Amino acid sequence: MSQISFINLDGQSFELPTFVGSENEKAIDIAKLRDLSGYVTYDPGYKNTGATKSAITYLDGEEGILRYRGYSIEELADKSTFLEVAYLLIHGELPHKAQLDSFESEIKQYTISNEVLKKIADTIPNSVHPMSEIAGLVGLMSAFHSTEEAGDDEKNMMRLMATLPIMATWNYKKGLGQEANQPDTSLDYCSTFLQLMFAKPGDPFKGDPVVSKALNKLLILHADHEQNCSTSTVRLVGSSHANVFASVSAGIQALSGPLHGGANQEVIEMLEAIKADGGDTDKYIAMAKDKASGFRLMGFGHRVYKNFDPRAKIIKKAADDVLKALGVNDPVLSIAQHLEDAALHDEYFVARKLYPNVDFYSGIIYRALGIPTNMFTVMFAIGRLPGWLAQWKELKTNKEPIGRPRQIYTGYTSRAFVDIANR
Ligand code: ACO
Repeated sequence: MSQISFINLDGQSFELPTFVGSENEKAIDIAKLRDLSGYVTYDPGYKNTGATKSAITYLDGEEGILRYRGYSIEELADKSTFLEVAYLLIHGELPHKAQLDSFESEIKQYTISNEVLKKIADTIPNSVHPMSEIAGLVGLMSAFHSTEEAGDDEKNMMRLMATLPIMATWNYKKGLGQEANQPDTSLDYCSTFLQLMFAKPGDPFKGDPVVSKALNKLLILHADHEQNCSTSTVRLVGSSHANVFASVSAGIQALSGPLHGGANQEVIEMLEAIKADGGDTDKYIAMAKDKASGFRLMGFGHRVYKNFDPRAKIIKKAADDVLKALGVNDPVLSIAQHLEDAALHDEYFVARKLYPNVDFYSGIIYRALGIPTNMFTVMFAIGRLPGWLAQWKELKTNKEPIGRPRQIYTGYTSRAFVDIANR
């Protein structure tokens, strides 16, 4: 039941309603604060702002809890497939067998490459980062698919699920000077992606179950993370009634930044640089603590997790398992472990509650699976897609208003125009 809170401003008391979420998260509804008092709230980076009510993902940063639709990330990563989790996020419940089969065949129905988009992709120079390429291609999809008719949204969500992994492989194949592979729809979702990446012309693709299982796990761990930067972007863009392609394209761009999804590429590059520099992890820990150096320990720290990131725990173990199963000996794994160990015992990192995040070990696994470094964030985007779709759908279903924050203006007050000759 909602209660009333009181706020005292300029000697006057104002009443604001409060409410509680299903996990006992308490909120003050400040929507009327400005009308009542003339005050707005100020919260750069939205560190303490609930921008929406959502029933998709719950996370408790203090306790290291992450659940999709009530199911723990540990159980989902262990027992589920990526498509099951995608269904769960988008439709709200784990699918029955028949529902999962029909979800999968619906996606497969759209696994046809758009030849115009392919031609456009062929003209994009290989120097362009694949995140920019897929953001552009996803945005352009609205040129080919109706977004106005009833039922379009559901179809377009399935189109994105089907075609993002296909388009994601084009940049890589182009770089190899090879034709893009056509998807083998007899395979499951993750294996089809691996076949698109690694099948050799004329050589039937032999999937490795270890690789496919690892990929399923990684994508599940990335599938949603409540109101992070890219998801908030998807919701903000969608709130203007922009279509799902425009909204997801914007989400991909937001994800590409090094403080967000782009960190997984930065982590491997950092580990490689430390290796090339003789493997002296202490030197880099010292640099990360020295603000003047401009260096941050990539893959460390999180806005919400202040104890541990449950995804990082699962990924660290998976990295060990996958490397062993594939017989890969990656020297950067031990550099990563040394860095983690040193940071976890260092006062600077302990005091600021900085722990490895999901990106710290994910690149090591992607690399063992044969994914090139510049595609690590693309893999994150493929994993995050069902989360973006679920959040976009929720925003529309709940008929949320257009997102439009206020500001505190700090510029000049009114002044007279000065003619160019007198400036
Ligand atoms: N290395 C060194 N110091 C750090 C790091 C880091 N990786 N992260 C935070 N700090 C320090 C800051 O300098 C600051 O110190 P101060 O209080 O002395 O000024 C303090 O810890 C708090 O950091 P903020 O930047 O204020 O924390 P915020 O919540 O705004 O940022 C972020 C979180 C962006 C994840 C940050 O920790 C970071 O830049 N990490 C490295 C990039 C990274 O791994 N990003 C991936 C995040 S997970 C994801 O998006 C999937």
